[in-house]
Amino acid sequence: MRVHVVDHPLVAHKLTVLRDVNTPSPNFRQLVDELVTLLAYEATRDVKTEPHEIETPVAPTVGVRIAEPMPLVVPILRAGLGMLDGLTRLLPTAEVGFLGMQRDEETLEAVTYANRLPDDLTDRHCFLVDPMLATGGTLVAAIDYLLERGARHVTAVCLLAAPEGIEVLSTAVGDRADVELVVAAVDEKLDENAYIVPGLGDAGDRLYGIV
Ligand code: URA
Repeated sequence: MRVHVVDHPLVAHKLTVLRDVNTPSPNFRQLVDELVTLLAYEATRDVKTEPHEIETPVAPTVGVRIAEPMPLVVPILRAGLGMLDGLTRLLPTAEVGFLGMQRDEETLEAVTYANRLPDDLTDRHCFLVDPMLATGGTLVAAIDYLLERGARHVTAVCLLAAPEGIEVLSTAVGDRADVELVVAAVDEKLDENAYIVPGLGDAGDRLYGIV
């Protein structure tokens, strides 16, 4: 599994404001959107293209277009929803599927409570979006699901990752498939409640409030 930490001053600046406990929900949502757009630029670097003939006002030429089958963006509910627009802004022709997953707070295992994805993902490039890679359980389950259905390439886009989660993910994925992680920063560790330290708290609550 390849890990790409996006090293850019705008990413670092926006992430710092995002982490700040005093940043209110509307600003938090806006910043997540902006950050994801920056991450999406890196995350889409390997998107498959094909030659495409066009005519400019001056001459015929051959450019490229994104190849079929179209990429699939999969936000993991609920916090991943806050990252959807940032990704589809750069990939407007992508299809969107949804996976509802949450961790059981006692076992810390990922439980799927909603699934709105095509059964056949043969040859698809899937972009999984979830803000926090903490224990790795949710992303491992989601990646397994996509690969079992034939996905060719999975790019996980996260805001923050814990080293423990990256280790779990990379062991689980092994060299089975073309999988990469694109992340704005790798933090220090997980605490005893599996929160990322220093992190930014509960991403879902900060995006959408405590419900
Ligand atoms: N999920 C979150 O929202 N925050 C964490 O720190 C870990 C998991």
